[in-house]
Order: sequence, then structure tokens, then C-alpha cells
Amino acid sequence: AAAEKGGHDFFMLKEIAEQPQALADTLLGHFENGRVVLDEQRISDQDLRDVDKVFVVACGTAYHAGLIAKYAIEHWTRLPVEVELASEFRYRDPVLDRSTLVVAISQSGETADTLEAVRHAKEQKARVLAICNTNGAQIPRESDAVLYTHAGPEIGVASTKCFLAQIVATYLVGLALAQARGTKYSDEVAREYLALEQMTDAVAQVLETVEPVRALARDLSSTDTVLFLGRHVGYPVALEGALKLKELAYIHAEGFAAGELKHGPIALIEDGVPVIVVMPSPVGRAVLHSKMVSNIREIQARGATTIVIAEDGDIAAAALADHLIVIPRVPTLLQPLVSTVPLQAFAAAVAQARGYDVDKPRNLAKSVTVE
Ligand code: G6P
Repeated sequence: AAAEKGGHDFFMLKEIAEQPQALADTLLGHFENGRVVLDEQRISDQDLRDVDKVFVVACGTAYHAGLIAKYAIEHWTRLPVEVELASEFRYRDPVLDRSTLVVAISQSGETADTLEAVRHAKEQKARVLAICNTNGAQIPRESDAVLYTHAGPEIGVASTKCFLAQIVATYLVGLALAQARGTKYSDEVAREYLALEQMTDAVAQVLETVEPVRALARDLSSTDTVLFLGRHVGYPVALEGALKLKELAYIHAEGFAAGELKHGPIALIEDGVPVIVVMPSPVGRAVLHSKMVSNIREIQARGATTIVIAEDGDIAAAALADHLIVIPRVPTLLQPLVSTVPLQAFAAAVAQARGYDVDKPRNLAKSVTVE
């Protein structure tokens, strides 16, 4: 069993370490002759040109990948993108027609709510593209087209490498749409694709620096609440960081959009509450960065212990943070690929310090095939 885990104590830790490979394998074959290619057999450029609205449907961690995708797809394509929990989508009356593209994200391809959302979308004549990690699973079988994430089997119940691979896959969808619709020139598409490819190295770099994060997690492991703050693409990252901590360590954890701080969350701050802050880039998102600096001051004034995930060279964050976690500087839309990794390591280390089975958290299933 130790060999299966590649020398790690848990599959999840092995899967965290496999993330650079998962990204590289997911990208493989999707950029040919200067163009982004999705599923050639089943989705044509004409299909993509006809799209006038995108829905992303998913559950759990895959839903967070969808929330991140919205920022990139809207920015690149100028198409409206709605992201919805599959269990809500199918019981509403969503407005869909044949020019709607529904992107269903599911690691297993068997999640009951996501599958039902796909069926509902098809009944409304929408075009459905599945992003899935499991060859031949039900969701890709029932979809019009499929983009596989090639993360390899994920054993840990809490999704890690599949999450990063899902983000990359949705970005390929965004680039393919932008390319087909002409909202980006081909050299711009090529540049964005290259930046995606370079994330393999950036994630590998982050993995080399997670040991201090694990040590910090052990120090904080007896806390009973952790709050997470993020903005822009850092907001879904905050949600994902909180979900991981709930799932694995059974700690009350909540993620908030930092701009909402004064609308409620700040009331939760008291002496010693750890708050993990995902810092926007001081270069790429200077305005949001300075707002976040103010947020950190506000919560510190009320006693919070701040753990700040900040880009290399972020002097303001380094000066303020009680604990600093440095990530490499990457293009803003790609930051979630690096900022999520320390949060995964943090949640796993807290759970380990508490003596829990990181691979099989209580009450949870790897794939939820009943509603
Ligand atoms: C369960 C797993 C999560 C996963 C979610 C969606 O809750 O514990 O890790 O994100 O299902 O699964 P799917 O297979 O549809 O991505």
C-alpha cells in the first residue's frame, strides 16, 4: 500500500504532488498548428460560433472550478457565463436554447445531480460539453462532446489534482470559443495557451515550498474556525480552501468575497481567529490589491491572525501578514492554479495533525450517485 501511495502517507498527498503532471497531460494534444482543439469529432468551430451564452454546472469542488472559469471565459469571449450548482440548476427553470453551451464538470462523470442537469439541458436543446476525468462515464456518454482531464485516477475523496485539471480544461474551452468567435487573435490565443503550459512549472515550484505551510497547519490544528477571504479569481479559491478544510479536518471553515467583509463576516472576527487571505496580484490587480491590504488591517485590528497567500515580491503583504505564504507571480487569471495548492496542503496537514484519515473523510463519498 505504501508503494501505491508513492511514498506518501495518503493518496491525497500523492495526488497533490501529481498536479504538474495532471496539468501537462490535460493540455496534451489540445494545441495543434497554432490552434486550440477541443473534441474534433463532436464539436465544430461552427457550433462554437453559434454559442451566445454559457452555463457551467457542477457539484462540490468541480463547481469551484466553474466559478473560476467564469472570469476567464467572460474576459476572453465576451459571452455571458452563468455558473450553477447542478442541484439548483435542474430544479429552476433556466433559460436555455440551442445556442446555449452547457459545460458539465465532473471528475467521476457519475454525479447524479450533474447528470440530471445534463439531461435537462439536452431536453432544452442546448449543446452539452462534458469535462470529465473518467473515460466512458455516464456524463460524457450523454453529452454532445467531451473534454477529458487526464489527471489519472483520483483516490482521495477530496478532489485535488482533478480540480486543477478542470480549471485548465475550462480555460481551453474559453480559448476555443474566443478563437472561433474571433474575440481573440490567433497570436493572443497562442500566448494564453503558452501561459497555461508554463503553469506546470509554476505548480511544481509551489509544491517545493509547502513544507512550512504544513508546519503552520500543525500549529493551528486545534482551532475551531478558519475564515478565508478572496477577491476576483481568489474568491472561488477561498471557497475551495474552506471546503477542503471542512471535508478533511471537520473544522468550521467559510470562504468569503473580501468585498463583503463589512456586510457580515467581520462580525465573526475575534481574538486569534485565523483568517487565510488570498491576495490579488499587486501588479496585475493593483486596485484590488490595495483594497485587500485595507481588509487585512481591518481584521487585524479586531484580533485576527492573518495567513496571507501572496505573490512573490508583494512587499505590502509581507509587511502585514502574521504568516506569509509566497506563490510565484503568474498571470492573474491563472493564479488559482498556484494559490489553491497551499490550501490543499494546509487542509491535509490539519487533518493529519488531528489524526484523521485524509483519504476517507467521515460521511463523504468520492462520487455522489444518489440525490
Ligand atoms: C464529492 C467529492 C468531491 C467532488 C464532488 C463532485 O462530493 O467528495 O471531491 O468535488 O463529489 O464530484 P464529481 O465527480 O462530479 O466531480
